[in-house]
Formats: sequence, structure tokens, C-alpha cells
Amino acid sequence: MGGRDITPTGHAKQAPVQTSSKELREVTKDSIGFGIIGAGSIGPVHADAITAAEGAHVACVCDILEDKAQALAEKHQVPYTTSLEDMLARDDIQAVSVCTPSGMHHTHAIQAAEAGKHILCEKPLDITLAAIDEMIQAAEECSVRLSGVFQYRTMAGTLKAKQAIREGKLGKLALGDCYQKYYRAHTYYASAGWRATWELDGGGALMNQGVHGIDLIQFLMGPLARVSAHCRHITRNIPVEDTAVAILEWECGALGVLEGTTSILPGYGLHLAVNGDLGSLSLEGGNLTAWEIPGEEAVEAESEDAGDTSSDPLGLKATGHQAHVEDLVAAIREDREPLLNGREARAAVEIIKAIYLSSREGGATIELPLSYDDDGPGILPRLGGPRLEW
Ligand SMILES: NC(=O)c1ccc[n+]([C@@H]2O[C@H](COP(=O)([O-])OP(=O)(O)OC[C@H]3O[C@@H](n4cnc5c(N)ncnc54)[C@H](O)[C@@H]3O)[C@@H](O)[C@H]2O)c1
Repeated sequence: MGGRDITPTGHAKQAPVQTSSKELREVTKDSIGFGIIGAGSIGPVHADAITAAEGAHVACVCDILEDKAQALAEKHQVPYTTSLEDMLARDDIQAVSVCTPSGMHHTHAIQAAEAGKHILCEKPLDITLAAIDEMIQAAEECSVRLSGVFQYRTMAGTLKAKQAIREGKLGKLALGDCYQKYYRAHTYYASAGWRATWELDGGGALMNQGVHGIDLIQFLMGPLARVSAHCRHITRNIPVEDTAVAILEWECGALGVLEGTTSILPGYGLHLAVNGDLGSLSLEGGNLTAWEIPGEEAVEAESEDAGDTSSDPLGLKATGHQAHVEDLVAAIREDREPLLNGREARAAVEIIKAIYLSSREGGATIELPLSYDDDGPGILPRLGGPRLEW
């Protein structure tokens, strides 16, 4: 079905609901028009982020479910459609936000690239390394920019931590740890058929939620050399892991621990710790909570409010996404790679795949980089447990 491709008010552009400097910017010829693919949970966050961003505006919404497309389009006073082909044919769209289930990202991103649209793609970029590499290649071949989304990376605390580590302020790094202890209710898993499936979510507590923390810790520590891990479904009747632990060995020589879960109460959030022989720091999400560097003032606990998704998947604020939108807009204008380009966004998925492979092999030590043949689930079916479909 081609959808109705209409402007709900009939005159959205001429009669914006609210008058603001943002809406005045929308009409300038330099503003990048974004189409949103997928108007479920995260699509509205992208729409808010694009609306708030310098140099960007929402131009159209697409969802195969007409009511979702219509509701989001009406909120932003833009046209909507149920046909991705129709949306990609619009010449008032220069970029798209891919907000569909994770295992569909490569299909939609490649379609967008072939239509000449730049891409802001939700995390994980996709659920296999082969699919991600196809996306990267398609963007290159079609001369469009591809940016992933890891909103905690954009936060001031994260960037300050990265700079301190890069400048050697922590000395020789000894430990890089990540604890992402979240809670997801049964209702969350039941809210969409693709959630917690190997086929479309690509995993559970790590591939969906933990991917944020894994991206952050590898951003701070640099490449991972090897890992051994165990993944389990302990409290949830889902075929993917709800809990995982891993021992990490970073290429810089440091060790580390990873714990990820979505099955505990309460959800505690995302905690990172990096320790070196000169100093240490820790982060809660992208906010610095410890800064123990000799000769430097301890930082005030920073309070950039990115929202809290540790127990509520809808508790996210759009600020980090806005930073990604503005970076993609700048990348398009300056003809450069986005800060979180495809290769950057791929790294966390490769680490998760290595964790899954280790877990499948009973905790064996897995060396990175991985090959495509190493792809597979993190847990094997257990008697009386959820059935693994892969
Ligand atoms: N950055 C974050 O913190 C964050 C938070 C939540 C979700 N996400 C990611 O966003 C993606 C979507 O998650 P969600 O929770 O919004 O899922 P969702 O199920 O709530 O929404 C997905 C939407 O995509 C639509 N859709 C499916 N196939 C489509 C197609 N062919 N064309 C157009 N629309 C289509 C569905 O109808 C649905 O409305 C996932 O990859 C997830 O990992 C990221």
C-alpha cells in the first residue's frame, strides 16, 4: 500500500503549530530535510531531535503502520506515508533516520543510500557484521554519509574522559569496566514481536541495551584484543540473553569486566570505570561521577540530563540524538565523515559477537577481529528453557 502521503493539516509548512526561530530556519534553503523511517518508540525521539537541531527539519514520516506514521506526522505537521519507496522519492528529503527494528536497518539504509539520501541509523547499526559492512559499502558507493547513533558518546563527560585518556592523564591503563544493569518488564518484550528475537533484535541484554555501554567503554579504551564470556537467560522467557558477563582484555594491555542485564530490579543505569597508574575516572551514562587525577580538581558531578532508560525504555531525552543530527548535518556540509561513522558504530557489534561466540563455546577466549563465520547466538537452548530459533 502506498499510504496517503498527505499533509495532515493540508498546510503544515505554511502554518506551523508553534512559531519559533527553529521554524523560521526550516524554510531556509540550507536546512536538511529528514525523513523518518519507523515511528515506534525511537522515531519520535528522532523527530524531536531533528526539530531541535540547527540546520535540519522533519520533512516526512514513514511507517508501515499508518496510525503510527500519522500520529508522528501530525505532531510535527509534516506529510506521512506507509511506503518507503514513496518517501525516498521525495526531493525535499536529503537524509533519513532509520528507526526500524535492528535487523531491518541494513535493508532500509541501503535503500536510502541508493536513493541518494544520507543516513542516521539507530543502534545497533545492524545485527551482523556482514550486514553492517554492506551498509558502509553502499554509503560509500552512493556517496552519502552514514552515521550511527550512540547518544552517550556525544555527552560532555564522555568527551572529557576520552580526551584525558588520549592525553595520558590516567597514565598506563590497567582496568576498563562496564556495568549496565537494566530492567525491562515483560510488557516491554511483549510490546513488539521483533524484540528479543535473534532474527531481528540480534540478541538481548547486550545487543539491544548493553550495546550502549560496550560502545562507550571501547570508545574510551580503544580496540578490544580478546574476550571470554557467559550469556544466560535467567529470569525472562526469551530466546536471547537477559544477563551476561565477560572478561575483557584491551589492546592497550588493560583488563576489564563487563556485566549486562535487563532482568534485575531496580535498573541501575550504565556505569563505566577506567583506572590507570596515574589516575581514575568513572561515568554514569555520559556524566562524569569520579575524576581522580593528581593535580586536577575533582569535577563536580555533571548533570547533563540524557534521561534515564535503566528501567523505562521510553525515559530517553532527545539531546544526544540532537547532537548526532547536527553532526550529520555538519558532515554533509563539510563533506567529511560523521563522528560516529559506520566503522566506529560497527565496533560495539563486533565485541558483542565475540562475546556471543565465547559463550557458545563455554567461555572460550576469543580473539578479535572476528570473521563473518563467527556470527551466531550467545546462548544455546536448554532443556525446558526458551527455545532458541536461529
Ligand atoms: N538510541 C537508543 O537509545 C534507542 C532506544 C530505543 C530503540 N532504539 C533502536 O531503534 C530501533 C527501533 O526500536 P523501537 O523501540 O523504536 O521499535 P518499535 O517496534 O517501537 O518501532 C519500530 C517501528 O518501525 C516500523 N517499521 C517496521 N518495518 C518498517 C518498514 N519496512 N518501513 C517503515 N516502518 C517500519 C514499525 O511499524 C514500528 O512502528 C531499534 O534498532 C532499537 O535498537 C534505540
